[in-house]
Amino acid sequence: MNQPDWKLVWITGGGTGIGRSMALALSESGASVIISGRTESALQSVADESLARHHSGRIIPLVLDVTDLEAVKQAVEQMEIEHGELDLALLCAGNHHSMPVDRFSAATCRELMEINYFGVMHALEALLPRMLARDKGVLGVVASVAGYRGLPTAAAYGGSKAALINACEALATELRATGVHLSLINPGFVRTPLTDKNPFPMPFLMEADDAAKAIFRGLQRKQFEIAFPWTFVLQLKIMRLLPYSVYLPLIRKVTGF
Ligand SMILES: NC(=O)c1ccc[n+]([C@@H]2O[C@H](COP(=O)([O-])OP(=O)(O)OC[C@H]3O[C@@H](n4cnc5c(N)ncnc54)[C@H](OP(=O)(O)O)[C@@H]3O)[C@@H](O)[C@H]2O)c1
Repeated sequence: MNQPDWKLVWITGGGTGIGRSMALALSESGASVIISGRTESALQSVADESLARHHSGRIIPLVLDVTDLEAVKQAVEQMEIEHGELDLALLCAGNHHSMPVDRFSAATCRELMEINYFGVMHALEALLPRMLARDKGVLGVVASVAGYRGLPTAAAYGGSKAALINACEALATELRATGVHLSLINPGFVRTPLTDKNPFPMPFLMEADDAAKAIFRGLQRKQFEIAFPWTFVLQLKIMRLLPYSVYLPLIRKVTGF
């Protein structure tokens, strides 16, 4: 990978999965990477891994729950006081619960909205005024292809990701006139602790390190949408164009519902 322009990076959800792979790719490229999450041991193991691999950049663990707006704002202020200006923030923290219709729960919807949607909004509230004031910075928001259209058992998860996609489209339009860039990252299935609990065969499953390579490349190219793997994404994008009369029977057939 080419050397990136980013010297200081913040990754939420950096202790495992896609965030972990991105943290290691960035520390290998020489960036200082602050990784946050709620589990200190997971964060520390990523920092230890980077040291063991003799990466030129360092990884700094930070225990932080993205659902706590005041804690997020304080953390961003503290990061910039201690380490300098953040060049890139990758907002990756998220969770998934399958929610079949016979276990429909508003509490599950709220929990996933709090983490997947408001977790990102909290970080943006902390970051946007700072990046806009200096007219530079890169924001990477990790949503999902599950936000493209409604999928069975994903009413809670897909809803939170659809909300993120919509918000990113709105923000990117306004940010175009500024030096701040926002990328929307829509992964397909990636092997991580989040998908390890899926009981079904996942089509086009990717490894987290390959997902990190795609994200790294897309961020460097300043793509608005970074979606992968393209074979899966293409099929889903075509499905996005279908009228309900075609889409609903098709998705029932494909997923067996
Ligand atoms: N894997 C996939 O197939 C896939 C596909 C599309 C989109 N995504 C998205 O990619 C992102 C990363 O997921 P992943 O697959 O890499 O799963 P993962 O390994 O479970 O990573 C999610 C990370 O988010 C952190 N997190 C969860 N709740 C948090 C909270 N309240 N505050 C702070 N951190 C929190 C977790 O750490 P703690 O629990 O220690 O806090 C964990 O490290 C998620 O947004 C996910 O929705 C994943």
